[in-house]
Order: sequence, then C-alpha cells, then structure tokens
Amino acid sequence: MRRQFAFLAFTALALSLATPLAQADVAAGKARAEICAGCHGDNGISQTENIPSIAGQPDQYTQWQLVFFRAGSRKNEQMQPIVEEINNEDIRNLGAYFASLTPPKGPEDKDPDLSKKGAQAAAGRRCASCHTDTYAGTKAVARLAGQREEYLVKALHDYKTSQRVGGGGAAMADVAYSLSEEEITALAHYLAHLQ
Ligand code: HEC
Ligand code: HEC
Repeated sequence: MRRQFAFLAFTALALSLATPLAQADVAAGKARAEICAGCHGDNGISQTENIPSIAGQPDQYTQWQLVFFRAGSRKNEQMQPIVEEINNEDIRNLGAYFASLTPPKGPEDKDPDLSKKGAQAAAGRRCASCHTDTYAGTKAVARLAGQREEYLVKALHDYKTSQRVGGGGAAMADVAYSLSEEEITALAHYLAHLQ
C-alpha cells in the first residue's frame, strides 16, 4: 500500500517536473519557506544539531526529498507535519528557492588529518562519480559540501541500517552498506569542511 502510494507521488512529481507550463515561483517559495526557518535556519543554513542545511541543494533533490517525506518512504517526526501542509506547487517553488540560496560554508578544519583520511575514502569509494567533483550535487543527488558534520554521520548511518532507502535506485543503501564506522567518521569530517 505504502509502495503504491509512493509510486503515485513519484508519478505526480515526475509529471510536474516534466510540465513546462508550471514555472517555479522563487518569490512564492521564499514566502512559503517562513515555516522552515525555525529549524533549517535563516536562509537555509542550519544552526541546529541533526537538522541539515538546505541552502544550495539542487532543486530536484529538495523536491524529491519533500515527496519522499510526504509519501512516508522517508520518515522523520519533525518533517511529517510540515509536508502535510504543502502541495505540489509549494514543493516546486521551495525547490527553486532553496537552490537559489548561497550554500553553507564549511567551518575551519581543526583536524586536517581526518579530512585527509576522508578524502582518501571518498576517492576509493568514488563518491564524486555521483555527487560531482565539488560535492555540490546535481539533480536528485544531494549536495554534501559544507553540510553539518553530525548530520552527514546520521545520514550515512540511516542508509547503512536501511532506516532511509532513498531514490536513485537506492544507490546510497548499496554505497553505505559496506562503509566502516571509521570511514563514516572521516568522510563526514572531510565533506563538512569542503567549501
Ligand atoms: C520542526 C523542524 C523542521 C521544520 C519546521 C522543517 N524541517 Fe525540514 N527537516 C527537519 C529535520 C530534523 C530533517 C532531517 C531528517 C532526517 O534526519 O532524516 C529535515 C530534513 C529536510 C530535508 C532533507 C534535506 C537533506 O539534506 O536530505 C528537506 C529538503 C527539508 N527538510 C525541507 C524543509 C522545508 C522546505 C521546510 C519548510 C517548508 C522544512 N523542511 C521545515 C526539520 C524540520
Ligand atoms: C551511484 C551514485 C552515488 C554514489 C557513488 C554515492 N552517492 Fe551519496 N547519494 C546519491 C543519491 C542519489 C543520493 C540521494 C538519495 C536519497 O534520495 O536519499 C545520495 C545522498 C547522499 C547523502 C545524504 C545527503 C543528505 O543531505 O541527506 C549522503 C550523506 C551521501 N550521499 C554520501 C555519499 C558518500 C560519502 C559517498 C561515497 C562513500 C556517496 N554518497 C556515494 C548517489 C550516490
């Protein structure tokens, strides 16, 4: 049942993404985003533990995640009541608005050795092959550069334990399954400090 529901949501969004009639309205997205700021921060830069920054995420990535929350295929108690309040048009506008914002800047790196380990792990695992060389993400693939470190750890654990399945043919579940705790720590540190 849930699967069917997710499929319907998927189809609806695929249609809306494919329909040139409906142009995204960045100003309307900005107005709607007032209900997001309390958690995701002003201008989409989060100051709160375990809440991701969403500024500078690819338009499609934001849209898909909102659809996944709404369909229940991605679960989060805090996002649940939010997605009940937004429609497809809001989703399209919010995607465009957050994509238009300046992405988060990584903080000063106080452990460059750990970043080096993370960079090696990322190269070995070919993370950039999907997330792009600058880790800015593209289409339905998330931006990782400058994201909060503890949230990156959480996200990788959520994929590894199948708490989160994700789109794109569950690409991340396959990737995260074989990551060690040591690699996850190093990868998150490296990515969080990229500019
Ligand atoms: C009450 C707090 C709260 C509010 C308000 C809120 N969010 Fe979230 N949001 C979260 C949390 C917590 C997560 C992380 C979920 C997880 O760990 O899987 C999240 C995740 C997300 C993600 C996934 C980001 C990623 O990197 O995968 C998107 C997109 C998102 N929120 C968009 C929004 C938008 C748009 C709004 C406003 C319309 C909003 N949120 C309002 C708490 C909130
Ligand atoms: C085959 C393509 C592919 C590869 C390789 C890949 N990713 Fe991903 N990644 C994705 C996709 C697609 C998503 C969005 C999945 C979703 O919808 O949840 C994603 C999402 C993520 C997220 C969640 C971001 C957020 O804001 O919630 C993290 C963290 C992540 N990837 C880290 C990595 C790391 C680290 C590596 C290398 C070890 C890697 N990825 C390799 C495709 C890939």
